[in-house]
Amino acid sequence: MSKKSLVFSGVQPTGNLHLGNYLGALKNFVSLQKDMNCIYCVVDLHAITVFQKPNVLRDNVLETVASFLATGLDPNKSIIFNQSSVSGHAELAWILNCVSRIGWLNRMTQFKDKAGSDKEKASVGLYIYPNLMAADILLYKATHVPVGADQKQHLELSRDIALKFNSDFGCKDFFPLPEPLIPKNISRVMSLRDGTKKMSKSEESDYSRINLKDSADEIIKKIKKAKSDSAPIPNSLKELEKKPEALNLLTIYSEISKINLDKILDEMSGKDYSFLKNKLADLLIGEIAPVGNEIKKLMGDKTHLLKVLKKGNEKARNLAEENLKNIREKVGLI
Ligand code: TYM
Repeated sequence: MSKKSLVFSGVQPTGNLHLGNYLGALKNFVSLQKDMNCIYCVVDLHAITVFQKPNVLRDNVLETVASFLATGLDPNKSIIFNQSSVSGHAELAWILNCVSRIGWLNRMTQFKDKAGSDKEKASVGLYIYPNLMAADILLYKATHVPVGADQKQHLELSRDIALKFNSDFGCKDFFPLPEPLIPKNISRVMSLRDGTKKMSKSEESDYSRINLKDSADEIIKKIKKAKSDSAPIPNSLKELEKKPEALNLLTIYSEISKINLDKILDEMSGKDYSFLKNKLADLLIGEIAPVGNEIKKLMGDKTHLLKVLKKGNEKARNLAEENLKNIREKVGLI
């Protein structure tokens, strides 16, 4: 990646960050901050596309900042801020609403999933949400966007919007085309109850996910109860791929232990899933419980979290304002 590379990503403050957010996004955020300029945003304007109780939202914004810090983001290296504090996000989103096409939004599968069967009742914000996401990224002319696989389609839309803007306004390389950085081995952590669905904050059963704030006991209980398979652990990847819940557990194990899946199968094939589950629970307790404890500790000092945001907000606002000046000029706004 060149020196001009800039990383941007966002996380919704809807509470209960989980293992999917951690392995799909947060861990990557932390490793990228070593060598790159990084901007990480708590996307509160995205969260309100579905109704949020105001006092709960305020707390969840701070808890998301606490989760960023607890996983290892450093406010002296990365810009950490909340979206609504930089009004340029909403302004650019409006401009991009006028560039993006209805046909493009109609193809977004996440809107279809989230709006459910009664689309007429979904908020307009939920429908145009991907345009706001494009605005988040393009406002800083970000080149790289670390996300889980579920955000790939939104990233492709951001690239289409950037291309169309550059072409409509005759400014070929004005917006860089943002590249998704999706983890190779575990791009989508699946539900512990149904290996065909992604692990998600909105899934009703808490047993479907490992939350970052879960205690060691909760982690053990959830992994014990996780769906696996009645047959023993198979000896080939080909066999494993037919069993989504087992594949999910073994992939999580592989990701955290840093042992590749083939080697794990060599060691575990023929054994019962309780063997894997005991080892996995231990690994997760070692990795997740310290993060959860740190989140709880950080939430005890909200003044500190607000200070982190204030500093990040100022930095983000300055960068955004500089770019917005040029964007307004390109569009012909005085
Ligand atoms: P959000 O808040 O749903 O999720 C935050 C990040 O976690 C990843 N993720 C997962 N990765 C693997 N397996 C899972 N089960 C899993 N669940 C969530 C998501 O891919 C994401 O990277 N629209 C975004 C937020 C956003 C954004 C942006 C991201 C707004 N503007 C600009 C990047 C750039 C979202 O709702 O993520």
